[in-house]
Amino acid sequence: MQPQSSDSLVDIPILEDLDAPKQVSVTSDGKQQVYLETYGCQMNVSDSEIVAAVLRENGYGLTHDADAADVVLINTCAIRENAEQKVRRRLGELRAQKTKYNPDLKLGVLGCMAERLREKLLDQEKLVDLVVGPDAYRDLPNLLNEATDTGQAAVNVQLSKEETYQDIQPVRYDTNGVSAFVSIMRGCDNMCSFCVVPFTRGRERSRPVASILDECKTLVESGYKEVTVLGQNVNSYRDGQNGSTVDFAELLYRISLISPDLRIRYSTSHPKDCSEALLHVHAERDNVCNYIHLPVQHGNTDMLQRMRRTYSREQYLDLVERAKQIVPGISLSTDIIAGFCDETEEEHKDTLSLMELVRYDHAYMFMYSERPDTYAARKYEDNVPEEVKKRRLTEIIQLQSGISLESNRAEIGNEHVVLVEGTSRRSEEQMSGRTDSNKMAVFDRMDFEKGEYVRVKVTDCTSATLIAEPLGRA
Ligand code: 5AD
Ligand code: SF4
Repeated sequence: MQPQSSDSLVDIPILEDLDAPKQVSVTSDGKQQVYLETYGCQMNVSDSEIVAAVLRENGYGLTHDADAADVVLINTCAIRENAEQKVRRRLGELRAQKTKYNPDLKLGVLGCMAERLREKLLDQEKLVDLVVGPDAYRDLPNLLNEATDTGQAAVNVQLSKEETYQDIQPVRYDTNGVSAFVSIMRGCDNMCSFCVVPFTRGRERSRPVASILDECKTLVESGYKEVTVLGQNVNSYRDGQNGSTVDFAELLYRISLISPDLRIRYSTSHPKDCSEALLHVHAERDNVCNYIHLPVQHGNTDMLQRMRRTYSREQYLDLVERAKQIVPGISLSTDIIAGFCDETEEEHKDTLSLMELVRYDHAYMFMYSERPDTYAARKYEDNVPEEVKKRRLTEIIQLQSGISLESNRAEIGNEHVVLVEGTSRRSEEQMSGRTDSNKMAVFDRMDFEKGEYVRVKVTDCTSATLIAEPLGRA
């Protein structure tokens, strides 16, 4: 999932700054107050909504004020070393707060770092009271009671082959009321050699179709206009029903029938099993957005093999070609890793040339960060010097920024329908929203409200944003 990503939920790239914390903002009620802070991918944001639901169900209140909380939970990311360092710095601050002002404060570490480090976290991070892995959130109330009763840390990092939290109605604390995440599967069986996600999130399992459709219907009834369907690899989605199997293309099709006003996006899609049927759903259903996040990771076939991605450069380029044929105007984004083990200058150049060929509208670009226990950590040497990794990453970022700018410039004069998400970050006088192809547009506020579809004409741009003139409600 796009970091707030990627093929992990972390391919769930998730989609802005993957490593930026997201905070719960809900009214506080109930007895003990819980403050929840989320790092990493979109899947973590979605998981925090499950955590909020479990706690609220068990009589806890939710607060967005860490200073007023009785319990502080940090939902963590382990995808790269710097994501973990960020969490450790935050834990340091919270520890200081606990020691100085509130010795009774319960401090919990949830998610991927909890799963990766388990009891070791308790030695490394003093004063942590809870360590809870991504499949153990139903146990949170028990674990909190246990930590309170015994004064000892409580740990549950059991991974499950079944847990999908299918019957839990997430508490939507990102209440822009327009756009919501819906998790459809958990875990990953792909074992890309660089990636820690299969170890922190366990085996792949899919949530039943009926529960996904119900959740989407409820969102529509509550006024939501967009869902982003989440999984580490949504293309592996499978649900057996009355002898027939629903795959991801079929699921997407069924979600698209719920309401023509509901836009549908998804993340993340592994290129190895992005099917023609899925591309046809994009082509046929107007409300399935004209956008695919299709992480390539690298542009060289030998590197892709070392990464255990199971496709070649040529197969990936063929898929892109098919996508562009079947879904004219399709917008693509990707994840790219610079400086993976043994990468030569020539191999790095293959990544640059692939980017030139595909011309992604957007990319999430990372320096390789060795993760303990992965295949790469065990079998390969992390031998590209730091300064070479940095330089290669800079070249990748600069190339992408030029391609994004060119792609945005080509939009000048074009009309788009955007879904208004709220006021722009820079000015209260401007609204912002995304086009079908996932480009951010800003335009004059007029009397538009968030959640409305507005037709705009692009007049200018930067590499990240379209500047547009509103033409009216769509
Ligand atoms: N180092 C750098 N980037 C990584 N990713 C996953 N593991 C690593 C790693 N060890 C990136 C991949 C993935 C995205 C979510 O994070 O590009 O698609
Ligand atoms: Fe994505 Fe591969 Fe990691 Fe699975 S193992 S989450 S497919 S990068």
